Amino acid sequence: MQSDRGHWGSSTGFILAATGSAIGLGNLWRFPYITWENNGGAFVLVYLLCVAAVGMPIMMAEFLIGRRTQKSTVGALRECAGPLWGIFGVWGVLCAFLLLSYYTVIAGWSLYYFARTAAWSAAGYPGLATGDLFQAQVGNAGLQLVLSLGFSVATVAVVWFGVREGIERLARVSLPILFGILLLLLVSALGMSGSGQAFGFLFQASFAELEAGSMLSALGHSFFSLSVGMGAMITYGSYLSRKQSIVKASAAIVALDTGIAIVASIIMFSVIFSVAGMTEQVGASPVGMLFISLPELFYTEVPFGALLAPLFYILVAVAGLTSTISLLEVVTAYLIDEHAVERHRATLLSGAAVFVFTIFAALSFSGTPFFSSLAVFANKTGWFETVDHFVSNIMLPTGGLAVTLAAGWFISRRVSHGELVDGNEPGWFRYGLWLGFIRFVAPAAVLAIIIAVLLGADFS
Ligand code: PFF
Repeated sequence: MQSDRGHWGSSTGFILAATGSAIGLGNLWRFPYITWENNGGAFVLVYLLCVAAVGMPIMMAEFLIGRRTQKSTVGALRECAGPLWGIFGVWGVLCAFLLLSYYTVIAGWSLYYFARTAAWSAAGYPGLATGDLFQAQVGNAGLQLVLSLGFSVATVAVVWFGVREGIERLARVSLPILFGILLLLLVSALGMSGSGQAFGFLFQASFAELEAGSMLSALGHSFFSLSVGMGAMITYGSYLSRKQSIVKASAAIVALDTGIAIVASIIMFSVIFSVAGMTEQVGASPVGMLFISLPELFYTEVPFGALLAPLFYILVAVAGLTSTISLLEVVTAYLIDEHAVERHRATLLSGAAVFVFTIFAALSFSGTPFFSSLAVFANKTGWFETVDHFVSNIMLPTGGLAVTLAAGWFISRRVSHGELVDGNEPGWFRYGLWLGFIRFVAPAAVLAIIIAVLLGADFS
């Protein structure tokens, strides 16, 4: 069953695909908005610590588990760490399934804003009512269904052809352009009056305001953003050949991913603190920050903004696509490897099953009974927010904890050393560092945060 597994075309192809998985709506949409909800500063600092001390060692662990076994999540954990660990593989597949179901809806929003900004660029920008527009678009159930269906079809289409032909190529072209536009936006945003306040908000840590719940959110988001904790990087690692240095690849991916999240936040907060009335609009709907704040910047500050705005939103959609395919790949590869389903059938089956849940997420903002009103966690209303909270703050941290324990304590050192250290260097220091983090620091940090939340009984 394993003999005809595909492999990445090249080292660069792998790095681009994995970076494409990591960089997505988590950086552009989710990080800025949860930073807002968690009062910036201290939250950002905890996030950076989580990325370095927990996320990066887990990413390396996932790549090594995948490459060693050449299997997807369930089979890989089972083979490497022991039969019971397969259960955590299933947990990861479920997590990817649920995450994909609502992620698709946000990706659909960027398609809408592509169309909107294209129309504005042609006919003129109507000025600031972007908050109301956002509310109207998410409240339109029919529109939400059409947009997310469109995006689901695109995701299935790419995975259908296998990751190599579709995604490597897409990531190669789109990511550099996205970085270029972000840089231009950054330069423009830095010239705005509120940019100083934006830096203060993001980088002045006031620990008095930090709650245990915020620490859990920072931890969960570090997993979300790096695509770890649910087996996506195990699956991508399973298409990896021996030539690639896992340490270097992980360092590059983590640095790019974190850099983009910070840059995106500086841009958005500069706009929010510069434009009168923007704080209220974003405050009414933080979840829409990416869509509410940036049109102002494009149409009032950025040279050639009218040209760049639609291009930017279509690239956001592409950044989303390079992430959704890695999520669908987790589910598809599970069906292929564990249930011997043929690739095309597996892709269609998983795509269709996920879409049922995407419908629930798409109906979360339109006043639809149950889906709009579900309230399980404090301050989270509707199916969409409930599932996002459950996946990021509960499923990802537990999945990540399982990977640290499996890699640190159950996989033999001979295996992990063999995978992490390339042949031509001793590398014991690097390996020892990783081992220390994956065995002690990462699990202790995850457990400490979970316990803090439980003791603080603050589950918001
Ligand atoms: N890392 C992606 C983002 O930040 O948008 C989201 C994601 C993709 C998470 C793939 C998990 C995953 F397997």
